[in-house]
Amino acid sequence: MTVVERVLAVIEAHRGDRGALLPILHGIQAEFGYVDQSVIPLVAKELNLSRADVHGVVTFYSDFRSEPAGRVTVQLCRAEACQAVGSERLVTHAETAYGVKVGQTSTDGTVTLTQVFCLGNCALGPAAQVNGRLHGRLDPTRLDGLINAEAE
Ligand code: FES
Repeated sequence: MTVVERVLAVIEAHRGDRGALLPILHGIQAEFGYVDQSVIPLVAKELNLSRADVHGVVTFYSDFRSEPAGRVTVQLCRAEACQAVGSERLVTHAETAYGVKVGQTSTDGTVTLTQVFCLGNCALGPAAQVNGRLHGRLDPTRLDGLINAEAE
């Protein structure tokens, strides 16, 4: 299947959905790991939207990546409850230890670091998702252990 065929298949799977753009973009990211800029014109044409509309949605939602993610995706919660118990220390540690800023992927392709504002795990902060799995009561040592286990 070509890239265009794969994108069209995702579009067809959601074409009848109300507010189809978001599920289509999530589907494309699930299919390819990110939403490449090159698919935006096709999505826009198929949904009868402007390219600017689609681009705006892709760039507005931090869930959408415009480039491939690293092997380990870390979403650190930076909302208030987690901030109160040390999430900023985790952010600083992760940026230093893996040589990335929030929103970036490490140059060796191991870690993609992103932020999120509440994972619904406030009582067990600081919280993060590592490759989609929720973890709580994190400290730098536990976070490193989770990242290393996923990177192997
Ligand atoms: Fe971090 Fe809710 S504030 S999980």
